[in-house]
Amino acid sequence: MIFYFSATGNSLHAAKTLSDGIEKVISVSDSIKNNNLKFTINDEKIGFVFPVYFFGIPQVLLDFINNSEININNNTYVYAVMTCGASTANADKILKDLLTEKGIKVNAVFSVKMVDTYVPLFKIVDEEEQKKINDEADKELQQIKKAISEKKSGCQNNHRGHFPRTVTFFSYPFYKYRRFTKKFYVEESCIGCGLCENICPSQAIKIENGKPVWIKKQCNICLGCLHRCPKEAIQYGKKSKTSGRYFYK
Ligand SMILES: Cc1cc2nc3c(=O)[nH]c(=O)nc-3n(C[C@H](O)[C@H](O)[C@H](O)COP(=O)(O)O)c2cc1C
Repeated sequence: MIFYFSATGNSLHAAKTLSDGIEKVISVSDSIKNNNLKFTINDEKIGFVFPVYFFGIPQVLLDFINNSEININNNTYVYAVMTCGASTANADKILKDLLTEKGIKVNAVFSVKMVDTYVPLFKIVDEEEQKKINDEADKELQQIKKAISEKKSGCQNNHRGHFPRTVTFFSYPFYKYRRFTKKFYVEESCIGCGLCENICPSQAIKIENGKPVWIKKQCNICLGCLHRCPKEAIQYGKKSKTSGRYFYK
């Protein structure tokens, strides 16, 4: 079984590749929405696949782990695969600590570099570059798949970057200050399709009078609403108008 979170499709692609269409792939945000939080798993392996945010883990995954009950066998092989735009630093440590509190030991940690979606800071790379990055990611995913099938253990993370502990220690605490929704706004081109409301893992968006309204002060800041809006009508801050949009194809 694979638990995943994905805003823009990278981690979903990774989860699907690893599952080979055989293992069950479960969305943690849907599980939270549907209050489906009890799992008794007899599988030989379970995986957690998710994007790195602020060199840590997304809030929705944190909430899922804190609020769920996951029963596994003592000898179940547990792994994490993080997708990132550049480096993960020590993000896995946060996941490992949370799972340890639940009595679940993580056996192996992997990472895959994919297209970076954090548009408040970076522009989305052009399509040629996206293809190059994601072709390389597919090669990494095949190696990860092999390592998982052999139940390799320990840190198999090739994208930790420099000074991982320090980077996570100083960056991740800022995530909570970056999760405010006040910088989101919608332009006239919005057609009120409701996709943003449906996909928001924080249930922070409501369509009111045909337009999205951010009804919560904070969200995951996953930017799924912005990237997936069919009219590119959702903006965040000053830069997003010219920073491009991305969804894994
Ligand atoms: C809020 C936010 C924070 C991010 N922080 C990091 C980061 O700390 N390090 C990194 O390498 N990539 C970072 N990224 C890039 C994503 O981890 C990367 O693009 C990921 O593959 C997106 O996965 P998804 O398509 O499954 O949502 C960030 C993206 C977002 C939206």
